[in-house]
Amino acid sequence: MMCSEERYLTFALGKGRLANKTLELLEEIGITCEEMKDKSSRKLVFVNEELKLRFFLSKGPDVPTYVEYGAADIGVVGKDTIMEENRRVYEVLDLGFGKCRMCVCGPANARDLLKHHEIIRVASKYPNIAKDYFYNKKHQTVDIIKLNGSVELGPIVKLSDVIVDIVETGSTLNENGLEVLEEICPLSARMIVNQVSMQMETERIKKLINDLKARISAV
Ligand code: PRP
Repeated sequence: MMCSEERYLTFALGKGRLANKTLELLEEIGITCEEMKDKSSRKLVFVNEELKLRFFLSKGPDVPTYVEYGAADIGVVGKDTIMEENRRVYEVLDLGFGKCRMCVCGPANARDLLKHHEIIRVASKYPNIAKDYFYNKKHQTVDIIKLNGSVELGPIVKLSDVIVDIVETGSTLNENGLEVLEEICPLSARMIVNQVSMQMETERIKKLINDLKARISAV
């Protein structure tokens, strides 16, 4: 065994539902972290001594930052965050959960504004994704207004004409008289890897990816 010589592999997980799902999936391939299950704990970093693994939770948008700088070798985060943050990391695996769509949404009557390429106001938690979509894909000049949540308010209180946001079940839109006007791309949870870690720890990381792949395709 060369376990004692191995260095710790560190995972950064985006807080919330994705982290719980990720831990469930890791358990299914024999990677557990008992310490993390104690919900009353205020600890930030959890260790599995036997497998030489460390885990920490952070805000989703910070996960690609930790991974780019090598503070974490591996991260799990939504594709939306990966696209918005645009960090130099390898995206290695679609974990198959957290499925939803990035969409342009608004009231039905905003459809015409989109069609006629008018200068419209777009509110979003994802200004880079919105910019890329309207400027580079649609070649439409728009004003982008960054919000930090409850973005559906934008068209309702007339801050913006449309929004760029995540749609999962569609019920938030429904309950607020808004609809999907255009679909930008599908989203789900992804695993990302630091570029240097991938070279230095190829075997361990490849095994992890393969075990996860096998597990994901088995269900
Ligand atoms: C997300 C998203 C939508 C909602 C979509 O918000 O921004 O508001 O979920 O889900 P649905 O289609 O199933 O209704 P989140 O709960 O993350 O909070 P936020 O508004 O603060 O971003």
